[in-house]
Amino acid sequence: MDTFLEKATPESIKKAAGIILSGGLVAFPTETVYGLGANALSADSCIKIFEAKKRPFFDPLICHVSSVEMIDRIAFAEDTALTVFDKFSPGPITVVMKKKEIIPSIVTSGMDTVAVRIPMHDTALSLIKYSDVPIAAPSANPFGFLSPTEAVHVYDSLHGRIDMIIDGGKCSVGVESTIVSFLDGKLSVLRPGGIGVEELQDVLKMKAEIYSGDLKSAPGMLESHYAPVKKLVLIEEGEAADFSSAALLSFCGQNASRAEHFEVLSRSGDVREAAANLFSALHKIDQLPVSMIYAEMIPEDGIGLAVMNRLRKASAERKYDFETNSDLTKA
Ligand code: TXA
Ligand code: MG
Repeated sequence: MDTFLEKATPESIKKAAGIILSGGLVAFPTETVYGLGANALSADSCIKIFEAKKRPFFDPLICHVSSVEMIDRIAFAEDTALTVFDKFSPGPITVVMKKKEIIPSIVTSGMDTVAVRIPMHDTALSLIKYSDVPIAAPSANPFGFLSPTEAVHVYDSLHGRIDMIIDGGKCSVGVESTIVSFLDGKLSVLRPGGIGVEELQDVLKMKAEIYSGDLKSAPGMLESHYAPVKKLVLIEEGEAADFSSAALLSFCGQNASRAEHFEVLSRSGDVREAAANLFSALHKIDQLPVSMIYAEMIPEDGIGLAVMNRLRKASAERKYDFETNSDLTKA
């Protein structure tokens, strides 16, 4: 299959909407990462997402809508959920709610809930408006590997497997949305992301429970994820290590030159800037002529919690290979 790669213009977005409505796959920019979109109302279209990404069917998809009114077509939004959308949307937040019949079960991995988000990106919003359907979209990368924050990341890993990529430049937030649920009456953070937990608690006046690891309430939250091809090891800021055949992912660049190959996330030590640069830096470092990567830990406040969540998962041992369906612990 040929993959169109086009800059975001009204014409290219209309063409992309046509592809979505005829059952195809379009990668598009959001403020967090690039998404791989299909018509969320069509099971046949959504199956193609799982095939292109080699994503296991137990990992449900997020549905993207362009307005609060549109949520009503697919989910039952309680008051707390509506407050979240009111305060934080469009933006990097996803809310899990009871689903309506219209959403096919493949999208939600058979659960009776659906995850919904309103992205804060003109291209994403226009694509949803032109299509006039909710768009199911995971990150546009092969399952388990680095998320894409530039169109070229999508092209390099998925061209030939999807119909179109809309290039909208680099994503401004750089890590995925924060996923929350209120289903048991409490505020549960299923995945830390673009909106900090402190900010959520302040605005909602509720104490958050941070997801502690059961795959039933947050399927897809595997231990190893967001990973470069090369082995990644976490170190303290400034810590010494053997950099003779390793690259350094440095937080603010202090003593970064102790390694021959390095990338700096934020010279001013700003966690937001670090998040925005995280995946681009990891994509670059993964292509360097080194055999492994050392990554400095960063402060875990605000969006820093999401950055550290991604780095921890990137450093976790890969136990299962979804590409070949094999258990790597039984080698
Ligand atoms: O920022 C983002 O959220 C990006 C952009 C493209 O919008 N999307 C994204 O999707 O990160 P993905 O597929 O990489 O992550 C989706 C995760 C699943 O792994 C699962 O943990 C959670 O969302 N999820 C989806 N539906 C759910 C549901 N009904 N209940 C609980 N968790 C759900
Ligand atoms: Mg993903």
